[in-house]
Amino acid sequence: MQTKEEKYTALLPVVHSLMSGEEDEIARMANLSALLHHEFGFWWTGFYRVAEDDMLVLGPFQGPPACSRIRIGKGVCGTAWAEDRTIVVPDVSKFSGHIACSSESKSEIVVPVRNHGRIVAVLDIDSRELGTFDKTDAKYMEKIADCIYGPQRDIWFAAGCFWGAQKFFKMIQGVEFTEVGFANGWKESPTYKEVYTDTTGHAECVHVRYNPEIVPLKELVRLYFRIIDPLSLNRQGEDEGTRYRTGVYYEDERDFDILSKEFFRVEKKLGAQLAVELRHISSFYRAEEYHQDYLDKTPGGYCHLSPEMFILAAKYKKK
Ligand code: SME
Repeated sequence: MQTKEEKYTALLPVVHSLMSGEEDEIARMANLSALLHHEFGFWWTGFYRVAEDDMLVLGPFQGPPACSRIRIGKGVCGTAWAEDRTIVVPDVSKFSGHIACSSESKSEIVVPVRNHGRIVAVLDIDSRELGTFDKTDAKYMEKIADCIYGPQRDIWFAAGCFWGAQKFFKMIQGVEFTEVGFANGWKESPTYKEVYTDTTGHAECVHVRYNPEIVPLKELVRLYFRIIDPLSLNRQGEDEGTRYRTGVYYEDERDFDILSKEFFRVEKKLGAQLAVELRHISSFYRAEEYHQDYLDKTPGGYCHLSPEMFILAAKYKKK
């Protein structure tokens, strides 16, 4: 017989692949509740979403109809939200304030679902047996709930012309979303034409959203250093200008340590000061649609990266 630990370990890659093919949060919740419900044979498996300041509203679920609204602090769901924690209830009759949507439900677990740290929903699972859930379920259900909006992290890479750079990052396993745009300039909502004059302060940049469990930031930045000349100031390939400068821009201060270690390592190896910026992302504006996935739409279009770089990106495998 499989242990709980083994069952969850086998299930996590399935969850990742289900999530990575779909950006829409409702579709993700719908498929996730179906997967968990059928894998484990729970009584009720679903989501309540934060709809107002103090109200959860029923989201995608599997099982019999349930109450549609739960106020903050009420029931197990509202308590998990208010107290910002997972709650395991071995016996619902002993949880004061438990909202009984059905007398069939005997035990329950409620796990907060976070988007960039903020609770945006709860995952609620009910069982027909007493004591179904324990610490192992809490640990893995938290990981699973984290998959709806992640664990997603964001990072911005300026690597010269953004057309080739986007194609490169898109090919890396664990990269879930990319878009090209203009970073860290001073003009609001610049157009490509304006950025092209080199007077708006922006760098052509790829916004990369990734799953750090599949591709950690350290690996991403190492791959990034393969596609740039880190000693070249404001020039990559044939492209020249401050808009083609290189840089890594982060939003989470915790990323700075990981990034600066890699910067230091490369600097030591090259024995020269890098021309690559390492800064907080101060602004990012998505470029016009025709720049998005440009090389997919324009086969043979201009690309300053060598074809081997795309082979390198496609070869990355989770360690
Ligand atoms: N028991 C939950 C209410 C939702 S149903 O279980 C589907 C609670 O007490 O919050």
